[in-house]
Amino acid sequence: MIINSMQADGYKNLEGVNVNFNPRLNIICGENAQGKTNLIEAIWLCTGVKSFRRTVSKDYIAFDKQKMQVRLEFKDSFRQQEIKFSMEKPNEKTVFLNGIKQEGLNRLFGNLNCVVFTPEDLELSKGTPDKRRDFIDLSVSQIKNSYKSVCLRYEQVLSQRNFLLKNILKGKKNKSNSKQFKQLDVWDIQMAQLGAYITAIRYHFVRKLSIYAGRIYNEITAGRENLSIFYRSTVFENLSENVSYNNALANEYLKSLSSKRNADLKAGFTTIGVHRDELEARVDGRVCREYGSQGQNRSVALALKLAQAYILTDEKEDAPIILLDDVLSELDHTRRQYILSKIKNMQVFLTCCDDRMFETVQENFKKFKVEGGKVSEV
Ligand SMILES: Nc1ncnc2c1ncn2[C@@H]1O[C@H](COP(=O)(O)OP(=O)(O)OP(=O)(O)O)[C@@H](O)[C@H]1O
Ligand SMILES: [Mg+2]
Repeated sequence: MIINSMQADGYKNLEGVNVNFNPRLNIICGENAQGKTNLIEAIWLCTGVKSFRRTVSKDYIAFDKQKMQVRLEFKDSFRQQEIKFSMEKPNEKTVFLNGIKQEGLNRLFGNLNCVVFTPEDLELSKGTPDKRRDFIDLSVSQIKNSYKSVCLRYEQVLSQRNFLLKNILKGKKNKSNSKQFKQLDVWDIQMAQLGAYITAIRYHFVRKLSIYAGRIYNEITAGRENLSIFYRSTVFENLSENVSYNNALANEYLKSLSSKRNADLKAGFTTIGVHRDELEARVDGRVCREYGSQGQNRSVALALKLAQAYILTDEKEDAPIILLDDVLSELDHTRRQYILSKIKNMQVFLTCCDDRMFETVQENFKKFKVEGGKVSEV
């Protein structure tokens, strides 16, 4: 996939941006607070996924402006495409894909595929489990469009079930009524179906991830260390490679859920489920998050993100666009060279404050300078 050109105005501090990109490598440099990440974020927005910086839509528009617009022209292996996104204060959004009006930004999902890598992602291995779950879920959704809506539905059922558990706990003294327990049964059945589906899909994705990331990690460490990735379920004790979503799996999930009902009632929330499962990385057999060094954890994160891009390339038969925001300056020379060599077949956008580290880049690239929200080719 290749982004040919971009126009942006009024997205945060971006002003009058009108650029043609290099099909391979785009180096975006500039001092702090000039708009480099805003530019990357504006590209990311066109993927239809919520901002990696968690910007809420009311903050898309520049403080002193009434409207913003972003336009991207890109091509995948089939055709030339165009995304146009504009917004007016307070919250009036208009989205077009190839000239056809879309209901919202999330309708763009699945058209422009990007993998974004920020300094925060270097914490993927060491950080909290929800980051790793989000990582799996986003990676899977990029391959399987329908998966995202199942996750959303699960979130809804989970919050309704938790709300009910809390109410039952509060009303315990006045004796909870049987109607509430009947409703709990209803949520359990729905949760078991959705949860079993998510488990099976995640499990197989993680097996694939383990193969790809394992290979990459092995290369990063010049064959000295081995990485394996596991999916740790809080619901199923053993998941085998032939697991797939069916009634039996949903029933087993339901049984586990029932066995924890008393604990859930006592806690006032759902104590097991895919919302508590873990992605576990082991280096030479040991859990990296607990026993690994800082450098090992960073290499695991790097391997996971590269694996995400590689799996996406294989599944979609089209390489995603790689957005590296500020991440290279955080890495040592060897890892920096490694990552650049591994994404040679993809279009890359990278930001940096100091472009001297790219003086030795041999290949064809374009360099842009960002200053006060304005972008110019240098
Ligand atoms: N809604 C907004 N309207 C106008 N400016 C905004 C808005 N939101 C953020 N900004 C400003 O945009 C500027 C550029 O932010 P950005 O994060 O893109 O900088 P950067 O070039 O990536 O800097 P760094 O090198 O520090 O990462 C910041 O000064 C920020 O305050
Ligand atoms: Mg930045």
